[in-house]
Amino acid sequence: MQISLKGQVALVTGASSGLGAGAAQGLADAGAAVVINYHSQPEPAEKLAEQIRAAGGQAVAVGADVSREDEVEKLFAETLKAFGRLDILIANSGLQKDSPIAEMTLEDWNTVINVNLTGQFLCARAALRQFARQEIRPEVSLALGKIIHMSSVHQVIPWAGHVNYAASKGGVNLLMRSIAQEVGEQRIRVNSIAPGAIRTAINTKATSGDAEKKLLELIPYGRVGEAEDVANAVVWLASDASDYVHGTTLFIDGGMSLYPEFRNNG
Ligand code: BGC
Repeated sequence: MQISLKGQVALVTGASSGLGAGAAQGLADAGAAVVINYHSQPEPAEKLAEQIRAAGGQAVAVGADVSREDEVEKLFAETLKAFGRLDILIANSGLQKDSPIAEMTLEDWNTVINVNLTGQFLCARAALRQFARQEIRPEVSLALGKIIHMSSVHQVIPWAGHVNYAASKGGVNLLMRSIAQEVGEQRIRVNSIAPGAIRTAINTKATSGDAEKKLLELIPYGRVGEAEDVANAVVWLASDASDYVHGTTLFIDGGMSLYPEFRNNG
């Protein structure tokens, strides 16, 4: 099936680098107009927007901290100003502040929960409010709107030394499923993507040299993922090719969530 997102507007949060940037590029390649949200790095976001425009696509970069209600409101207002509507939200912004539980500060706990979980709530809420003001355009998409939450394998795999992150992603799972249960009848599709180990800037240490060898023991498929692996899943989930997929988490992890430690054990 040929996937086209022509005539649709996608907002990707946290898109100045890594998975968000890959998703924005993938959506633009499929024909969507994209809003590239960034928090602290305007330059790479502007550069990506320029690249997309130079290739004949439509893109703008917009700064906002997704953990702040007023900034999320502004982000959505800018999206409407640029492209007049919203069809696809990729709630991707996320960060890690790692430490053993006994040393974890309340500030690091709150920062991770605020961005990774509250940020996804605020953006999903704003997207749903916008979808409610729009009509289905069956010639463009069978759904009134689509929300894709960026989760992680750590929505199911406990992660010592990262309890704030794992708790935030566990929260994303039931946030997504509860929203999906609530808004499905409005023909709004809500799903998550749960990446495993992907080669992005955040993971440079874990995905090179000896650390990579150790990491590969956790990945039955035998390779570290690339941002494009996730982008391909984002584009599919945002398109009518997945029109009957709703309230589900797609694991893009080379099998990391299969408990590979049990291959020769247990
Ligand atoms: C984290 C990565 C980690 C991967 C697998 C992701 O959610 O952001 O840092 O490598 O999970 O553990």
